[in-house]
Amino acid sequence: MGVFDSGIGGLSVLKEIHQLLPHEKLIYVGDSAHAPYGDRTEKYVRDRSQAIADFLLDQGVKAIVVACNTATAEAATQLRETMDVPVIGLEPAIKPAAQLSKSGIIGVLATQRTIDSERLLGLTERYAKDKKVLAQACPGLVEQVEAYKLDHPDTQKMLNQYISPLLEQGADSLILGCTHYPFLLPAIREITGNDIQILETGRPVAEQLKRVLNQNNLEAVIQSQKKMIIKYQAEKNSEQNSSSITFYNSSSDIQYHQAMKWLWHEPINIKVLPILT
Ligand code: DGL
Repeated sequence: MGVFDSGIGGLSVLKEIHQLLPHEKLIYVGDSAHAPYGDRTEKYVRDRSQAIADFLLDQGVKAIVVACNTATAEAATQLRETMDVPVIGLEPAIKPAAQLSKSGIIGVLATQRTIDSERLLGLTERYAKDKKVLAQACPGLVEQVEAYKLDHPDTQKMLNQYISPLLEQGADSLILGCTHYPFLLPAIREITGNDIQILETGRPVAEQLKRVLNQNNLEAVIQSQKKMIIKYQAEKNSEQNSSSITFYNSSSDIQYHQAMKWLWHEPINIKVLPILT
């Protein structure tokens, strides 16, 4: 299975996929050399997404997860037209937030490109017509995560600036509409406290992927073998657990490789992605 993001944020999705489908071989591509996608043109994001998806297909993947809200918004339709494997994209969690919210006021944190996307507009119209959806673009946050400045004072300042107005307006649910943001959860919780619902998409995407694999008869093992494999996986040590995953980053800068290792919490090898055209 291939999983990609504009950078290292998609690891928050990869983690959920690996947990739910531990027997699947995974290839992760972080495009840190070209992040953030939120500052790029639509064409640029579409072209990069296509090049990475083509690369993943060349590696023999049987499905592709676009672990990036921005790339999903810009490129998922094109990828579905050009790939002959299932393509799973991300959606900001508007639907569950609308069901959970008591105040009827929902905050969405995302990149400017996602905030401006028709996809977000469509989701809001479909699932949260009777709610107040406060969409907050968060310039700079992706860069802070890419630089592993998760609890840096500047990061805290940005988060405060983006989140406080949403809370002041009565938001009781906060959607993390960018896969980089779950890594900022402790810093976000410092601002929101524990009474606010915070929704991310990693787990629902992993579940959707599992459903799609089942529907297409693509899951790695048949049901009766699963128990044995789960037991086997549990017995493996943490280093071996990541051995079924190949990690790539488009940047050779050691900073991103180090950040990936810290975010993954296990020793991993990271390869530099070949130049894609
Ligand atoms: N992780 C990406 C997302 O979910 C970040 C986008 C960007 O690079 O701007 O949107």
